[in-house]
Amino acid sequence: MMSDDAKQDRQLRAKWLRLELEKHNQAYYVHDTPTIPDAEYDLLFRELQELEIAYPELLAPDSPTHRVGGMPIPEFKQVQHGLPMLSLNNGFEENDVIAFDRRIQDGLRSNELSTPSVSGKSGDLFESTDLSEVEYAAELKFDGLAINLRYEDGIFVQAATRGDGATGEDVTNNIRTVHVIPLRLHTDHPPKLLDVRGEVLMYKSDFAKLNAKQRAAGQKEFANPRNAAAGGLRQLDARITAQRSLRFFAYGVGVLEGADMPASHSDLLDWYVQLGLPVCHERAVIKGVAGLLDYFHAIGKKRSQLPYDIDGVVYKVNRRSEQQKLGFVSRAPRFAIAHKFPAEEALTTVQDIEVQVGRTGAMTPVARLAPVAVGGVIVTNATLHNEDEVKRKDIRIGDTVIVRRAGDVIPEVVACVIERRPSDAPQFVMPLVCPICHSPIVRPEEEAVARCSGGWIQCAAQRKGGLMHFASRRAMDVEGLGEQLIEQLVDKHVPPITTAADLYNAEKLNLASLVALDRMADKSARNILEALEKSKSTTLARFIYALGIRHVGEATAKALAQHFANLDGVLQASEQQLLEVADIGPVVAASIVAFFADALNLDVIQQLRAAGVAWLEGEPAPRLSNVLQGKTIVLTGALPNLSRDQAAAMIEAVGGKVTGSVSKKTSYVVAGEDAGSKLIKAQELNIPLLNEAEFLQLLAEKSA
Ligand code: IVH
Repeated sequence: MMSDDAKQDRQLRAKWLRLELEKHNQAYYVHDTPTIPDAEYDLLFRELQELEIAYPELLAPDSPTHRVGGMPIPEFKQVQHGLPMLSLNNGFEENDVIAFDRRIQDGLRSNELSTPSVSGKSGDLFESTDLSEVEYAAELKFDGLAINLRYEDGIFVQAATRGDGATGEDVTNNIRTVHVIPLRLHTDHPPKLLDVRGEVLMYKSDFAKLNAKQRAAGQKEFANPRNAAAGGLRQLDARITAQRSLRFFAYGVGVLEGADMPASHSDLLDWYVQLGLPVCHERAVIKGVAGLLDYFHAIGKKRSQLPYDIDGVVYKVNRRSEQQKLGFVSRAPRFAIAHKFPAEEALTTVQDIEVQVGRTGAMTPVARLAPVAVGGVIVTNATLHNEDEVKRKDIRIGDTVIVRRAGDVIPEVVACVIERRPSDAPQFVMPLVCPICHSPIVRPEEEAVARCSGGWIQCAAQRKGGLMHFASRRAMDVEGLGEQLIEQLVDKHVPPITTAADLYNAEKLNLASLVALDRMADKSARNILEALEKSKSTTLARFIYALGIRHVGEATAKALAQHFANLDGVLQASEQQLLEVADIGPVVAASIVAFFADALNLDVIQQLRAAGVAWLEGEPAPRLSNVLQGKTIVLTGALPNLSRDQAAAMIEAVGGKVTGSVSKKTSYVVAGEDAGSKLIKAQELNIPLLNEAEFLQLLAEKSA
């Protein structure tokens, strides 16, 4: 008797633990709101695990303890799908979708006539339906792996990959580690048998973390979240799968027994939500083809912000009855189509790896690629960033590579396909001398970038880069002075143009010298001279930026101009004085001092001023007090009355310093409307927060 009671207690306890753990699991992984501390969870988990080990009869197939993965299995078993797992036909153009919709309308109409219903009245199924506006379910096309989850009497019993559509691989143990997948359906009346179909995928953030881990461990990184998810799913050791944070979205159904098939696709997904299955929120029921195209564009805009990769959207005829009328063509349903975005990734080959010399001498390896369409454009080059990147990715001439171009981002070589590497592909080595000026290439220990040591005196590439930067729109804004003309000015012009000052020197550059260049008519030469003349009147910030000082971008140039108000102040500033300027740290300060310590630079500046390049000079704002001396302040969000510049000037006037990012060293954060991550960071670090009124009060108090 005693032992029976004890047995029942154990059973009840195990059942309670299972329900409790599953509840916290759902809260944590599905709703992103943990309900108990991790340590507490672990305690409950271990209790259940110990119970199950001691009393194996307590082990239930839906136990959350199965989620951590068992021992490695020798190989995957084959699984015959109850109903074949099909694929989708693709459309790329709007016309493909319009044609799809027309086929659907025609199909439904002809079926209406040719399939007499049981009652003898043809087409009564569609009597209330306006066939010019078919009802569709629109959803995302997830870029992951299709999977079938089998539930028997509401209990998860088996997961299988799509395989060839008829037979897949048994990945049940691995899928148990995917926390968003319920091991038991949330219903008291489960169907006898339910095959849930959907996509296993990895979030972009989890992918980034995984690759960071791989890199730190000196292991190969994954090319994209899809590959990482596939790799995770096909682990023979489920413990590895468990570490991959895989996700799942349900979007279809296979065999269903012991329950009525929902009347529409949207009803199916609603039902899934009730059953506790993850269904993506980005779905809609849409009547008519115009709405489908709107949906496509709306999702296209959102695409980069989604936490996971998608490669298009899917339109499915919503009503089950209509789906059945339409039927299938070979391996795809007639009632659905995938409307794909232009692929963001493509395979191509590396024809050469060249090294480009930038205006600061930085050597950037660039892959010359066999032309390939990616993200809607033809790509022939992709940056390889720097020497370490090429080594890390081990990209070689002759390699087949994955090229990616997402949105407006510049094309990038993601990874190479090792299996397709020619046996004689040589490893990349950074040249020892600059390909342009043959000066030695140097790379300081702590830097990722190798540089040509020639400087602009020796190296034509640096000269060209420097002139390009000087003339660019946000610098001196010399209209018409672009890359091709600068090439000629440096290489062919007589005499060669070597510095920015030469551009304004009429003895070197004039109508006659310009017209002597290729493709330079009298009219365009006059335009260039006019543009140069116009550019002479500028601002101090633009001029500082145009000088091309390393680490001095537009924002820093503006801060310098605002702080010092005249060029001599900047020229003469010590590192210490520069550090008082908003957002300038030791590296930037040192770079500025080094630039102005170079007599050649000072000479060019002097010549530019002599040639008439001018701006409004002023006096630096007087230091009112030192009350914020040594304090760093971060401004974030929009203040009601003060602009950022005004607030920064006020802080500097009393000896404080404005910086761009919140750290432990920040003294105050002044937060206005719509303050975002900086405000959160400040709260995390317990940095005193001020609104505009409190900020003004602080200045007044301190100054009093
Ligand atoms: S339905 C009967 N819906 O696309 C149609 N598939 O080319 C079966 N996929 O293997 C698929 N998102 O991996 C469907 N919302 C979605 C999807 C989707 C991604 C994948 C799935 C399938 C492939 C079909």
